[in-house]
Amino acid sequence: MKSFDSIIIGGGVIGSTIAHGLAERGLHVAILERKEIADGASHAAAGLLGVQAEWDEYDPLYEMARKSRALFPKVAEKIRAKTGVDIGYEVKGIYRIANTEEEFERIQQIRSWQVSAGEEAWLLSSEELKKFEPNVSSEVISAVYYPTDGHVLAPALAKGQALAAAASGAEIFEYTTVQQIVVKNGKVEGVQTTEGFFPCKQVCIAMGAWSTPFLKRFNEDYGTYPVKGEVISLKSNRPLLHAPLFLKRFYIAPKRYGRYVIGATMKPNSYQEDVQAMSIVDLLQKAFSIVPALQEASWDRTWAGLRPEANGGRPYMEAHSTIQGLFVSTGHYRNGILLSPYVGEYMADLMVNNYVY
Ligand code: FAD
Ligand code: GLY
Repeated sequence: MKSFDSIIIGGGVIGSTIAHGLAERGLHVAILERKEIADGASHAAAGLLGVQAEWDEYDPLYEMARKSRALFPKVAEKIRAKTGVDIGYEVKGIYRIANTEEEFERIQQIRSWQVSAGEEAWLLSSEELKKFEPNVSSEVISAVYYPTDGHVLAPALAKGQALAAAASGAEIFEYTTVQQIVVKNGKVEGVQTTEGFFPCKQVCIAMGAWSTPFLKRFNEDYGTYPVKGEVISLKSNRPLLHAPLFLKRFYIAPKRYGRYVIGATMKPNSYQEDVQAMSIVDLLQKAFSIVPALQEASWDRTWAGLRPEANGGRPYMEAHSTIQGLFVSTGHYRNGILLSPYVGEYMADLMVNNYVY
């Protein structure tokens, strides 16, 4: 097997975006994926770029999310130009809705710090919301509209990044499971896989919820934990919503071709990717109470995916302090799609700057 400069373990949105960044910087890169590109969480995601919708409180990751959201116009254009893939990037805003007095108080508090942080966030009464979104139920008593939040088609983004990496010279090996990272005299030498040994100078662990066994090299306490999310999709010939609605961690997102993605459950520590019947009932009940007209929509499909949680919601994005050539980028939890453009640039710079010829 020929030698690579950098090997990325995991062909999700994070691994594929880093590979694209490295290939563009002139390194010879391989993505090793045990199934197919975008088979993990990146396939399941709703694709919301919910900087404001997802952050109830300010933290340093919020700034990263903002910077990442701002990169999407360029990402969408670059992937289209290099591969012809349309990532379905749309900026029609996201509504953070309230259906109780308590939630109304909450969304006003969130709006207040977000406006201070320089974001746009418009407070709407129920009547004002209905002018924009007439199918929303009167149970919704208020909303804050975030005009800058958007959404993409998550699997298209992840696959588009991998294809763009390939267009810049990266090689993709699917159905190739990494079994071990081989380190000799404090330096990465390659990876042992089900398809043989791949020599390389650098390895980046980007295996999402499955990263834990490899993270122990960094620190015994490092680990990623799966938080299963179940999602359903309905279809309607009639337009029911213009922009996604977000209520705490529940959302209804209008997608192309009359699809409405409704999600998602939060079930920690389950590696089973099945969908429980009761979860479908819960998600549908919530959705019907917010948009009653969805009761007339037809069934499309259901699926589940595993969010990689780590470190109390903080991703690991670093170089190993003593092993030359070892890197990690995982644990992006509920927002890996949103964070991926920033992460790709950050990790590619980190790896190139630490490349030893
Ligand atoms: P993954 O996409 O899981 O990729 C990891 C890859 O590693 C997998 O393809 C796996 O097969 C591979 N792998 C594992 N072990 C090995 C091995 N030994 N060898 C080789 N390959 C291996 N984020 C948002 O920003 N917006 C959203 O709206 C959103 N909605 C979500 C909804 C749901 C239901 C879920 C589950 C997640 C959602 N997320 C969302 C979160 C987002 O999907 C994740 O943060 C992101 O996809 C993580 O990407 P990743 O590349 O780290 O992991
Ligand atoms: N960010 C949406 C989700 O994780 O379900």
